[in-house]
Amino acid sequence: MSEMKDKFGRPLHDLRISVTDRCNFRCRYCMPKEMFGNDFSFMKREQLLSFEEIERVAKIFVSLGIRKIRLTGGEPLLRKDLPVLIDKLMSIHGLEDVALTTNASLLERMAPRLKEAGLHRVNVSLDAINDDVFMTINDAAYKTEMILRGIDKAKEVGLGVKVNMVVKKGMNDHQVIPMATYFKKRGITLRFIEFMDVGTANGWNFRQVMTKKELYDELFKHFALEAVNPAYVGEVAKRYRYVGTNTEVGFITSVSESFCSTCTRARVAADGKLYTCLFASNGLDLKSILRSNSGDEAVRAAIVSTWQNRTDRYSDERTEESAKNKTKIEMSYIGG
Ligand code: GTP
Ligand code: 5AD
Ligand code: SF4
Ligand code: SF4
Repeated sequence: MSEMKDKFGRPLHDLRISVTDRCNFRCRYCMPKEMFGNDFSFMKREQLLSFEEIERVAKIFVSLGIRKIRLTGGEPLLRKDLPVLIDKLMSIHGLEDVALTTNASLLERMAPRLKEAGLHRVNVSLDAINDDVFMTINDAAYKTEMILRGIDKAKEVGLGVKVNMVVKKGMNDHQVIPMATYFKKRGITLRFIEFMDVGTANGWNFRQVMTKKELYDELFKHFALEAVNPAYVGEVAKRYRYVGTNTEVGFITSVSESFCSTCTRARVAADGKLYTCLFASNGLDLKSILRSNSGDEAVRAAIVSTWQNRTDRYSDERTEESAKNKTKIEMSYIGG
């Protein structure tokens, strides 16, 4: 079978699956308390895809050429018995890479079970190394110590670990060098993410974005860096190495240097909707097809037709206007 392509010739290579829309943090740029307060109605259990349904979807995607699956949330470790799902995914023939994006608040406890289930690696979201700054950002009284212990435990049990830091001017730009210093010392890759206009909750504007150039210039004042070639076409992060070490830093430049032309990612939300862009407004209701009497062929056909009709390139076309006025799904719902 020749490889399936979208309208701009992009193949489908990776799948990101959100397993819950809940999170125990209330990061101000993602789930501000004013919008996600005690009365917010998260998805009910029956609305979520079951592990069996996720496994079925994953198998169909693998039959379409996916080799990499990332589990996200909200906070994926809040989903009960997540290692059971990982165990199921690991048995899918042809799947090469299974990873998890997490805030790591539960990682110290969970790391051994995740490793045992076969998980390959985790990307930990951490936006500050200073407790006061971190607690202001997560707005839920979590201290960095717990996250750092989670990272150490994940390394200790043999999981691959990278750290993602969203940098927003006025929020945590002064934490860039302290974060780089801490993770360089430990040989852990740190990636800086440009603050994006995901969803409608975060009051985004261009002035708050610390661009790759600004980040690089700041880092270069303190460290010697050399560029590292991409490991594959469409790699999200632009990578650099601290000269004389094997430790890397990366930049995820969705705003200043968009990477839509090589975007090969599909996303399935916790309620079973399929999205072909992080900035989409509408998704395909896969869950209804899964729960109807149709067989795998019908699910497969729906995915193929959605991908073949895909024209998304939001970050290539972003303007201050589209950032404000387009209806978009929230990051906590689709998981980044
Ligand atoms: P690796 O496989 O480890 O390279 O992971 P990854 O970078 O694909 O996943 P991760 O969850 O660590 O992604 C980090 C962040 O990059 C996401 O949370 C998003 O903020 C951003 N990102 C990833 N994929 C896309 C994408 O397709 N479009 C945009 N605009 N941003 C993306
Ligand atoms: N811009 C960039 N990254 C974001 N994330 C959440 N919201 C945004 C945003 N507006 C990040 C999280 C995590 C990943 C899943 O997405 O911090 O690292
Ligand atoms: Fe923060 Fe990630 Fe939770 Fe959003 S999903 S509130 S960014 S920890
Ligand atoms: Fe892909 Fe959409 Fe991100 Fe562009 S904006 S890289 S199409 S997810």
